[in-house]
Amino acid sequence: MTTATGRLRRAMTMLRPSERGLPAERLPPFPAPAWALKLGVRVRDFLHRAVDTLVPAEVLVYEQVTSLAVTHALGAVARLRVADVLEAGPATAAELASRLSLDADALHRTLRLLASKDIFALTADGRFAHNRRSRVLCSEHRSRVRDAADYFSRDATASAYVQFDGWLKTGRSPFEQLHGMNVFERFVHHPDEGAVFDQLMMGITLLHARVVAGLYPFNEVRRICDVGGGRGTLLSELLLRHPHLTGVLYDAQSVVDSAASLLEHRGVLNRVERVAGSFFDRVPEGCDAYVLKNVLHDWADETCVKLLEKVRSGLRPGARVLVVETLVGHTSTDPYGTRADVHMGVVCEGRERSRDDYARLFDRAGLRLGRVFDGSVISVIEAVG
Ligand SMILES: C[S@@+](CC[C@H](N)C(=O)[O-])C[C@H]1O[C@@H](n2cnc3c(N)ncnc32)[C@H](O)[C@@H]1O
Repeated sequence: MTTATGRLRRAMTMLRPSERGLPAERLPPFPAPAWALKLGVRVRDFLHRAVDTLVPAEVLVYEQVTSLAVTHALGAVARLRVADVLEAGPATAAELASRLSLDADALHRTLRLLASKDIFALTADGRFAHNRRSRVLCSEHRSRVRDAADYFSRDATASAYVQFDGWLKTGRSPFEQLHGMNVFERFVHHPDEGAVFDQLMMGITLLHARVVAGLYPFNEVRRICDVGGGRGTLLSELLLRHPHLTGVLYDAQSVVDSAASLLEHRGVLNRVERVAGSFFDRVPEGCDAYVLKNVLHDWADETCVKLLEKVRSGLRPGARVLVVETLVGHTSTDPYGTRADVHMGVVCEGRERSRDDYARLFDRAGLRLGRVFDGSVISVIEAVG
């Protein structure tokens, strides 16, 4: 049992994102196979449910109802960099508050709430200390959870959730109704929000990139275009793992500009052509594979079809489209996929989709479903011309 648990735990921890600047020779091994990841998630879910049977249902639901306090406590603590200051060693809320110019009583109560969730430890003498979970809130932590906490609790995002009823009544994204524009248009007007989003995407994609790099037979292609590729987190991982590849990073101007340091840090800048533009206008030509990671889930079906048609129009014979998304079926209760799906409905007109949903989108765009590589947390769905 201990060995099995140890193996499972090793498999799960191998999913930890790699260091942003790891040179190629120090890249960690590919993560565990999809079945091990799936099993890990299922076992954890099973154990949670088993333990929850000891607790009255109303208490369990009440905990979820009031989880708003935790989201906003995490957001404020992230923005105010409390975790960074605590790196100097355990401290009382009064000591932390004086260093950060905060209210000591409010800070103690906030950190005590988080300690009740096992994020920060509260010692018997009233001092707060880092633990495994709180450390991920530090600014330099490669997971960028600090940016995720900031993004989800920010006014622009949180106010869209306040309009949740509107989504249920109309099916229209409350974010777009409220702000009069989609999330990416808003980032142009609010670059500070865009920068936080790009950071958090980088953290998520660091987690996914190793899975994707080991999932697809990249030896079949030579030049890859990452469409809406963000800061090049996935593309750089693919190039590091597969030295024969060269890449094109395609995204909005401000995003590809901000990608240079990451690509340089990872030693692949000279193998990547950075191209700025809108994927609704054009997509760079001449590549063997077009990757769309967490791009289609941002958009409604009609918009995805237009985008896929644009990619297809420049496809040369034998080229393929690699949609990289979390697969969520109609009856799936996967906690990550279902949460991401609702978030896409609230902040954009997007959604998470099943393999059949993608097959239908490809069909409408004049493409055909090819192979599907199920990586559990993230999958590669191939489309061919
Ligand atoms: C959810 S993020 C995914 C980023 C990256 N593929 C990843 O998984 O880390 C969506 C990306 O699409 C880009 N994007 C949105 N609209 C775009 C457009 N019209 N043309 C090009 N890129 C766009 C955004 O700037 C953002 O980087």
